[in-house]
Amino acid sequence: MKSPSLAILKNIPKDMLKKKRVLVRVDFNVPLSESLQVKDDTRIRAASDTVEYLLACDCIIILISHLGRPNGNVVESMRLDPVARSLESIMQRRVVKLNDCIGDDVKMAVDKLISGDIVLLENLRFHKEEESNNPIFAQQLASLADIYVNDAFGAAHRAHASTVGVTTYLPSFAGFLMAKEIKALDRLIVDPERPFISIIGGAKISGKIEILERLTEISDKLLIGGGMAYTFIAAQGFEIGKSIWEYNQIDFVKRLMAKIQGSSKKIIIPTDVHVSGDFSINSESRIVPIAEIGEHVLGMDIGEKTIDEFKKIIDSAKTVFWNGPLGVFEMAKFARGTNEIAKKIASIHGKVYSVIGGGDSISAVNKLGLASKFSHISTGGGASLEYVAGRELPGIEVLRK
Ligand code: 3PG
Repeated sequence: MKSPSLAILKNIPKDMLKKKRVLVRVDFNVPLSESLQVKDDTRIRAASDTVEYLLACDCIIILISHLGRPNGNVVESMRLDPVARSLESIMQRRVVKLNDCIGDDVKMAVDKLISGDIVLLENLRFHKEEESNNPIFAQQLASLADIYVNDAFGAAHRAHASTVGVTTYLPSFAGFLMAKEIKALDRLIVDPERPFISIIGGAKISGKIEILERLTEISDKLLIGGGMAYTFIAAQGFEIGKSIWEYNQIDFVKRLMAKIQGSSKKIIIPTDVHVSGDFSINSESRIVPIAEIGEHVLGMDIGEKTIDEFKKIIDSAKTVFWNGPLGVFEMAKFARGTNEIAKKIASIHGKVYSVIGGGDSISAVNKLGLASKFSHISTGGGASLEYVAGRELPGIEVLRK
């Protein structure tokens, strides 16, 4: 059965928004430097369409977000103050930052706000009730506003008080970013132009089993890189030395490979890898075929032959979905695989529908200055993977009315 359509902010008559207090759930879970500066403001910029729109409608804007995983404790380094400063400079407008997200002080401060004011409340996850979707906490958040807008696509796979619980108490709508993400990702799921190539990297297979299975079904080829490639390589019987891998996923990988054997769908794993004596840039490193990894090294990146093979496959694509770096790209020496694949996809911009998700792959693309060469940069990592894999995301389902 077709899901009911999404209730979206754009469809509310503007005069109904005038002077209303709007609680906007954003995903400002951004990387911070050691000196607590925002390292990548993609997610903050991405929320600006909704904020601008609400400003134009004379609303009072109350932003809420999580940052990191403080597990219900107040963690000083996870306060949202750096985010508020970054938002101020993006919006060129004052952003009031409060030190909590519920309670009398917050209520009093919010009551004093007037149309055009923007307030950012403190990290929701300082309260354990956020992640447990506690109804009283959800009601406390809801009591601050007249309308709720969810623009946090990146957190839509979490059934938390600020993404799900709060919708019980307020008229609830999807913001511009949420609607844009859904539209962009639907193009991958609903009749994508073929060949459709998925590229998956990152460290772990656990938690991605269903996703990998689903990607082999919807895409024509699935290219595997990053840490998870070593479990695939081990499953083929090769020595992987000290490389990261997941012993308990070997059976799954074998089953997956067997399932697609003989079909036109293919999982492509690296044929060569860049190995190093240890997890650092200082150790001696070399590129070897996967059959020659040996006992004493660990894989840090895909090798040159694999880069060429992946590039050739990407060249033929009409649709590309990429999530997760292909190597330890934070170390320049092992960033080549990730960078080359980013450059390849960027080089066919205009001829391909390309979607990239996941904080690390996005950072890599931003560092290369290639963001504009992708059709869509998803602000969701886990959320985009789950959405593409066909799972229902709780934060979206509650907006379908
Ligand atoms: C993300 O960065 O993927 C989202 O903000 C969700 O964060 P979480 O994985 O800590 O729930």
